[in-house]
Amino acid sequence: MTRRILITGAYRGIGAACAMAFAASGARVALADIRKPDESADAAARAGAVEVLTLACDVSDENAVTLVGEAVLKKFGGVDVVVHCAGIIHEAPLLETSIADFDRVIAINLRGSFLVGKMALGLMEGSAEAPARLIMIASDMAYYGRETFSPYVASKHGVLGLVRSWAKEFAPRVLVNAICPGPIDTEMLGAAHMSAEWRARELAIPLARFGKPGEIGELALFLAGSGGRYFTGQGVGSNGGSVMP
Ligand SMILES: NC(=O)c1ccc[n+]([C@@H]2O[C@H](COP(=O)([O-])OP(=O)(O)OC[C@H]3O[C@@H](n4cnc5c(N)ncnc54)[C@H](O)[C@@H]3O)[C@@H](O)[C@H]2O)c1
Repeated sequence: MTRRILITGAYRGIGAACAMAFAASGARVALADIRKPDESADAAARAGAVEVLTLACDVSDENAVTLVGEAVLKKFGGVDVVVHCAGIIHEAPLLETSIADFDRVIAINLRGSFLVGKMALGLMEGSAEAPARLIMIASDMAYYGRETFSPYVASKHGVLGLVRSWAKEFAPRVLVNAICPGPIDTEMLGAAHMSAEWRARELAIPLARFGKPGEIGELALFLAGSGGRYFTGQGVGSNGGSVMP
């Protein structure tokens, strides 16, 4: 049967790369993002997707996430793999970080992960023989602290907590894992979101380069495939050696 995939944060960066990877595998893909659909949907269709569904969604909005689940159920009849990529970053010294900054990061990164994960786990069937897959994009910062990024770091530690708990709760019919990328060359690492100082410091890792979004897309495809059958509750790095948990 053609696999049915839902990807959030799908119009840019890691999410767009995941969309391309799953589309090229010949899946039916639903792409959800807070931004307006852009060329990612066409690109996914050209890459070989059997069907492409585009959905507007703010992942921190419970109603919007519920509507995404309903739309996917109506169009695809269910979902086999969910890759949750939507997220934001915020860099500022703690004493210049407002409660509103903290709330925004937690709302999108942690509450959004809770809402998307809960919706996904409510929809996915799966069995021990053919488990469904929930893949959350956390971060290598789920494993360590970083000065001037504390709300982001806390949100990603929280995502790993959700993944580890859900992996136990839904075994063996759904495999729940996190990808914990190191620095990946997307807008998130650009000047609008990260200081030049931190961008340079990000390269002080064993492989001394930024990862490519497509490298995360390939990893997501692996975790969703037969090679990923014995993974659950894991934080899987593709991180250039930035962290060795
Ligand atoms: N780029 C990196 O170095 C890196 C490293 C580790 C983890 N990550 C994580 O990977 C994920 C993807 O990041 P990226 O680098 O591709 O960033 P990006 O900014 O290029 O893309 C993020 C996407 O998420 C969407 N989005 C943002 N807020 C949303 C919301 N409220 N609802 C729905 N969609 C929303 C954006 O519109 C965008 O399409 C994030 O969770 C990020 O924390 C990124």
